[in-house]
Amino acid sequence: MNFSSARLAKVKPAASVMVSQLARDLKAQGRDIIDLGLGQPDFDTPAHIIDAAHQAALAGKTRYTPMRGTTELCDAVCDKFRRENGLDYAHNEMIVSNGAKQIIFNAMLATLEPADEVIMCAPFFGSYRDIVLAVGGTPRTIICKPEDEFRLTPERLQAAITEKTRWVMLNLPSNPAGAVYDEAQLQALGAVLEKHPRIILLSDEIYEHIIFDGRTFVSSAKALPHLKERILTVNGVSKAYAMTGWRIGYGAGPKALIDVMIRVQSQVSSAPCSVAQAAAVEALNGPQDTVGQFREAFQRRRDLVVKHVENIPGFQLKAPGGAFYAYIGCEQLIGSKTSNGEVIDSDTNLAGYLIHEAGVASVPGSAYELSPYIRLSTANSDENLNNAMQRIADAVSRLTRV
Ligand SMILES: Cc1ncc(COP(=O)(O)O)c(C=O)c1O
Repeated sequence: MNFSSARLAKVKPAASVMVSQLARDLKAQGRDIIDLGLGQPDFDTPAHIIDAAHQAALAGKTRYTPMRGTTELCDAVCDKFRRENGLDYAHNEMIVSNGAKQIIFNAMLATLEPADEVIMCAPFFGSYRDIVLAVGGTPRTIICKPEDEFRLTPERLQAAITEKTRWVMLNLPSNPAGAVYDEAQLQALGAVLEKHPRIILLSDEIYEHIIFDGRTFVSSAKALPHLKERILTVNGVSKAYAMTGWRIGYGAGPKALIDVMIRVQSQVSSAPCSVAQAAAVEALNGPQDTVGQFREAFQRRRDLVVKHVENIPGFQLKAPGGAFYAYIGCEQLIGSKTSNGEVIDSDTNLAGYLIHEAGVASVPGSAYELSPYIRLSTANSDENLNNAMQRIADAVSRLTRV
C-alpha cells in the first residue's frame, strides 16, 4: 500500500542525512570512511550548558512549558537580540521551537496558500524547498552565481517576484556556499521588497557567529528597520554552541505572524523540551568564549581545505565568508573517466566516486539546486580534513580528464 500523500511524494529526505547514513553503512561493513556530509559542529556542547540542563531536570523543570517557550528563554533571546544584533523584540514577538527547522516549518504551514510562491536562493539549504513542498507551497529558485559570491542580487530578486510571491528566504552566512551580506547589500534587497508589501522576508541567521576574516554580521531586521514588521528572524543554538541534538531554535517577528506560528506549534509539539530550553538559556546567558573559539577553529579549517583545493586540478573554490562548508565547483571533472572506464557525468556521480574510491562522504550540489558542485563540511578535526583532502586529491588524480 502507498501511504504517501501526493503532497508528501514531492518531498525528499535531506541529502546530507542520506549521505551520512551511507557513510555509516559503509563503516559498518568495515570501510574506512571520513564523513564530511553532515553539517554539524564536531565539538562537544560546552560543559556549563550540560550542567544547566542537569540542574534544571533535578529542579523539576520537566513539565510542559508555555507553547512560545519558557519565560527565562524568551528573556534570554530578547537579551541576545538586543546585545548582539541591536534589535528589540518583546516576548509576544517570539517563539522557541524544536530547532530552526521547526520555526521555518511553522511559518510556512501557518502562512502559505496553495498557489503561493517562496523565493529561495540556490544553492540553498535543501529543507527550504522540501518544507515549502510539504505544506503545499511552490518553491521558486533563483540561481546565485559564483561571480556574485553566491549572493542574491536586487535585479535577480526583482525578476523573480510575481503576484504569488509570499516569502523570500535569505540565509546569512549561507549553507552551503558561505555567502555573506553586508548592510548595503541587504538594503539593496530591501529596496526591492519595499515595493511588494505582500512579501515576508525570512532571514535565517543560524550561522551568524561563524563568519570569517573579521567580517561584521548584520541582521536583516537591523539593516531594514522599516521592513521589520514583515521580517521573520530565524536563529538557534545548534551551530553557535554545538547543540544540534538539543533541538532549540527561535524566531522573532511581528506578533500576528508569531501568533499563527504558535497555533501550528500547539498541534505539532506543544513546545520544545523543557530541559533543552534550560540548556539554551545558559548557552545564551552564560560565558561566550567557546563561540569565538569555535569560529577560530572553523576559519582555520576553512583555510586548510581551501589550500588543499588549490592543488586539486579540476576543483574551484573561493574562500567562503562564513558557515562551515566548502562548496567546490567541479565542472572541469564532468565527463572524466574512472579507471574502470565509467564516466563521471554529474556531481552526484562524483560524490559517489569519492565515497567509494576515496572513502570520503560529500553531498552533491544537486541537493542544493546548483550543479556541478560538491559540498564538504569543514566541521571536522584538522587531522580528518587533511586526510580527507589528501584522499580526494589522490582519487581525482586517478580520473582521466577528456
Ligand atoms: C541554513 C540552515 N538553517 C537551519 C538549519 C536547521 O537548524 P536547527 O538544528 O536549529 O534545526 C540548518 C541545519 O543544517 C541550516 O543549515
